[in-house]
Amino acid sequence: MLKPIITDHPLIQHKLTLIRDKNTPSKEFRELVSEIAMLMCYEATRDLPLKEIEIETPMTVTKAKVISGRKLAFVPILRAGLGMCEGMLALVPAAKVGHIGMYRDPVTHTPHEYYCKLPADIEERDVILLDPMLATGGSAIDAVNALKKRSPRSIKFVCIIAAPEGIEALQAAHPDVQIYAAAQDERLNENKYILPGLGDAGDRIFGTK
Ligand code: PRP
Ligand code: URA
Repeated sequence: MLKPIITDHPLIQHKLTLIRDKNTPSKEFRELVSEIAMLMCYEATRDLPLKEIEIETPMTVTKAKVISGRKLAFVPILRAGLGMCEGMLALVPAAKVGHIGMYRDPVTHTPHEYYCKLPADIEERDVILLDPMLATGGSAIDAVNALKKRSPRSIKFVCIIAAPEGIEALQAAHPDVQIYAAAQDERLNENKYILPGLGDAGDRIFGTK
């Protein structure tokens, strides 16, 4: 089982505090989520393989490193995962993007898939699945199930806030999926919202409440 990687970089932690604040309006919230995602992309791509090529600087010919043709796909879980996609693409513009639509039933808290469109060559790609919130883990588990039906090379899950319950459930269902989170919070409340959390990520990104 892979231990979750908590990205405790000061820039990420500072921006995380700002998005937790209930007084942060949608515009700033959205921008900060995107910036956090960009910084987390740096961590989640740390193991990309490199190869050496020969280039010419203004001074001399030298060998230098480039990423060795590894193909990535970013897959946001709709809606809130969309808020992380731009930030990731800012660092890896050549990545393809798939979408998985999930919503949690407000009463049972179980996820329902309503959309799935993935790149045609997903079998050749390493997938980074995106969702700011890992609460019960139900949405992430079902999204990974949907991805695995299409056999990508590997799957990582990048979230901003994870509840211990969600980490445990996702690790149990998919021990091969590396989890990245900016914070592991205390627990879920009776409505399966994360405490202290940041509230409803989708509503705060899109201003729907
Ligand atoms: C939120 C969030 C995750 C899910 C996490 O989405 O973005 O997808 O809940 O909860 P879980 O770990 O218990 O499954 P929501 O279902 O509210 O949909 P939305 O993004 O459309 O608002
Ligand atoms: N989904 C959210 O957006 N927030 C939570 O705290 C839990 C699920």
